[in-house]
Amino acid sequence: MKKIIFATKNKGKLREVKKIFEGSPFQIISLLDYIDFPEIKEDGISFRENALIKARTVFEHFNIPAIGDDSGLEVEQLKNAPGVISARYAGKNAGDDDNNKKLLSELSGLPEPHNARFVCAAVFMDETKIIDSYGEVNGKIVKDGKGYNGFGYDPLFVPDGYNLTMGELELDEKNKISHRSIAFKRLRNILEQLMERK
Ligand code: IMP
Repeated sequence: MKKIIFATKNKGKLREVKKIFEGSPFQIISLLDYIDFPEIKEDGISFRENALIKARTVFEHFNIPAIGDDSGLEVEQLKNAPGVISARYAGKNAGDDDNNKKLLSELSGLPEPHNARFVCAAVFMDETKIIDSYGEVNGKIVKDGKGYNGFGYDPLFVPDGYNLTMGELELDEKNKISHRSIAFKRLRNILEQLMERK
């Protein structure tokens, strides 16, 4: 198995990505195995830039092929906020509940539907190459949050074509449609093809 280090300490993300790489020739490890590794500063102005910062920081430190990702929620009526600051929308130390509350308060008074999308940029980096990938899923923000699966804004997001929030979907179901699964399945395919060519 070829090790790839995923530049995250987010357990929710890690669970999703490990599942996507199941049955592949790659073993996904993460910064949760190196808990003292300092927080990586995400000061890029785009998801892609932040994903590259994470991949590069971790690759250069460990010298193991690395993947960085950056993801977030864009809400049309809020001019695509919270965007790259999704994780800290309600402040530097905000948790998921605080962010969800802030989102609903920003949307209060605005007419439904609240069209939104989750987006994910993923970047792979090793000594010879950088591979970019991207995924998005469209849906709507709803006022009454539901579901304890997933993380972040999942309880408030109903993907197009579904009557359930992302927080109510089982992981396998979320992994069929999510922004992260689209971006990471594409990366997995490219990496497997490159391996076969060797
Ligand atoms: P990142 O770790 O900088 O990519 O931050 C992503 C933030 O965007 C998370 O903390 C969540 O608030 C939000 N987010 C990203 N992906 C998802 C998802 O799949 N479900 C719910 N929220 C998400």
